[in-house]
Amino acid sequence: MIQNNAIGLFDSGIGGTSIWKEVHSLLPNENTIYLADSINAPYGLKTKEEIIALSCKNTELLLELNCKIIIVACNTATTNAIQELRAKYKVPFIGIEPAIKPAALQSKTQTIGILATKGTLNSELFHKSVANHPDVKIIEQIGHGLVQLIENGDINSPEMEELLKSYLTPMIEKNIDFLVLGCSHYPYLIPQIKKIIPEHVQIIDSGEAVAKQTLNILKQNNLLNNANEKSSQIFYTNSEPEVIETILNHQEKVIFKNF
Ligand code: DGL
Repeated sequence: MIQNNAIGLFDSGIGGTSIWKEVHSLLPNENTIYLADSINAPYGLKTKEEIIALSCKNTELLLELNCKIIIVACNTATTNAIQELRAKYKVPFIGIEPAIKPAALQSKTQTIGILATKGTLNSELFHKSVANHPDVKIIEQIGHGLVQLIENGDINSPEMEELLKSYLTPMIEKNIDFLVLGCSHYPYLIPQIKKIIPEHVQIIDSGEAVAKQTLNILKQNNLLNNANEKSSQIFYTNSEPEVIETILNHQEKVIFKNF
């Protein structure tokens, strides 16, 4: 039964596990297969064509593994490749985009900050969502180097602290009251970010919204898993399993796969 097939997720690496956590917490009965394409990280510095090719490669592997729906657990891949993926493959796709809209609608200072990759901030899809909020000042900052440090397991390093301070201080000086995390790796930086930004600045990411959207799309397509057995959670990486296992608090086993 197709309902019992897995939800597939992919990211350029370990960041999309922040999305997986939200999906698994809302849909614990669902089987999932996660692909960390860490060997090709960061996607954020690649061209649109390269990001499309990598997204197709990941999608094809998830389809070979019979996934019933695919979550593009990466803002960079979503904003650069989701249209092409939807045109090329029949399976339903869920994408993640920076949560500009809820931040812009709630901002009292009419100034919000966004931290994302170069690939996301330069994408047409991102420019379109910014254009929907002409009255709000949107301070864009590329998170140069952050994904590489996270992929290397250096989340708590002094280098990370320095980079975050240099990216966030100018936003704070411009009086932002919302900070949008536009990259699925960045929720892992929330404890460090909170040490830098004032308490009144709210941090928004897209994980919960993606999980809710996945539930809706599964329902609409009659794809909710109806099996009465423990669900399986499979993680594949084409780099070091240890880094993902650590970020998942050693609760899940991660398997090396060449893809
Ligand atoms: N985690 C990804 C995102 O949400 C991509 C990071 C990267 O590989 O540059 O944008």
